[in-house]
Amino acid sequence: MKVAIVGASGGIGQPLSLLMKLNPLVTDLALYDIRLAAGVAKDLSHISTNSACHGYTPQTIQEALQGAQVVIVPAGVPRKPGMTRDDLFKINAGIVKGIVSSIGQYAPQARILIISNPVNSTVPIAVETLKSMGKLQPGNVMGVTTLDCLRAETFLAEYLHKDKTAMSDEVTVIGGHSGSTIVPVVSNKRSIDKLGSQYGEFVHRVQFGGDEVVKAKDGAGSATLSMAFAGYRFADAVLRSLAGEKVSGFPTFVYLPGVAGGREVQRALGKVDYFALPVVLQKGTVVGVDASILSNLSKEEKGLVEEAVRQLVGNIDKGKRFALGSK
Ligand code: NAI
Repeated sequence: MKVAIVGASGGIGQPLSLLMKLNPLVTDLALYDIRLAAGVAKDLSHISTNSACHGYTPQTIQEALQGAQVVIVPAGVPRKPGMTRDDLFKINAGIVKGIVSSIGQYAPQARILIISNPVNSTVPIAVETLKSMGKLQPGNVMGVTTLDCLRAETFLAEYLHKDKTAMSDEVTVIGGHSGSTIVPVVSNKRSIDKLGSQYGEFVHRVQFGGDEVVKAKDGAGSATLSMAFAGYRFADAVLRSLAGEKVSGFPTFVYLPGVAGGREVQRALGKVDYFALPVVLQKGTVVGVDASILSNLSKEEKGLVEEAVRQLVGNIDKGKRFALGSK
C-alpha cells in the first residue's frame, strides 16, 4: 500500500515516517514536505525493509499523492509555552486547506488522517474543502485523537498500579482534541470510585497532558515522539482494515452525518456535527460510530461530555467558516 506523509520532515513527521518504514503493509512511502523531505527519505531508504521511500517537494506534490491509499498530515506549526491549540489556527488552517485541496485533486480516494492542530477545526476545514470540490467521502476524513487515548491509558495505569500495555480496554477518549473537549471514559465505573479524589486530577492530566510536554520542551515545540507513536497506532489500524482485517474500537474525530449511527449521536448530543468516538472501519474507511459508549457514561463523564459539546460548537464553526470564506 502507498502511504504519503505530508509534513514528513517535522518533529512528528520524521519519527512517524520511521515507524511507517517499518510497517510491512507499506510498500511505497511518499514523504512530502516544503523542506528536507529528500534527505529524510534518503536516510530512511537505507533501512532494509521492503518499502520504497521517496521524498517530494511542492513541485512534485502530484507524484507524492497520486495513488496513495492513506495520507497522514502532520504539517503545520506546533505550540509554544502559553499557547492553546486554538492559537495555531491562523497558520495551520491555511496549510491544511491547501494540502487537502491537493489531496482532493490528486488522491481523492485516500483515507486522510489529520494530525495538524487544532484538530477540532482542521477536520471541519478538510471536510468542507473536499465538499466544495465535490470530492467528499466523509468516512475517509479522520482527526487523529489517539494521543489522548495513550495518555489516558498511561495515567490511569499509573494511578491504579496496572500494566500500561493492557489498558486499551479499560479507558478510551471521546469528544474533541483540545482541553476540556477531551473526555476520558473509563470502562469499569468502579475504577472511578477507586481513583476517589484523584479522579479530577486524572481527567485534568488527560485533558492538559499536552501542556506538560510543551512546558518541559521549553519553547522547542509540543509532543512529537509520543504523537508519532499515536499516529502510527491509528494509521496501522487503518492499514490493517484496508488489508481486509476487521478493525473497530479506535476513536477518531469524524463528521457525524456521513457515517452510520452519526445522526443518532448528533440527536443525543445536540448541536455538534463532529465528535470523536470509537469507530468501525471497513477497507480503511469509517463506516460507523459506536454510540453505545454514550449510553454508559457515569454522572461525571456526562458532565464532561456536556462541557465538551459546548466548546466544540465554536471550534467546529470556526473551521467551517474559514473553509467557506475567501481566506
Ligand atoms: P514541526 O514544526 O516540527 O513540523 C511541521 C512540519 O510541517 C515541518 O517540517 C514543516 O516544514 C511542514 N510544513 C509546514 N507547512 C507545510 C505545507 N504547506 N506542506 C507540507 N509541509 C508543511 O511541528 P510538529 O511538532 O511536527 O507538529 C505538527 C503539527 O501536529 C502541529 O500542528 C501540532 O500542533 C500538531 N500536533 C497534533 C497532535 C495531535 O494529537 N493530533 C499532537 C501533537 C502535535
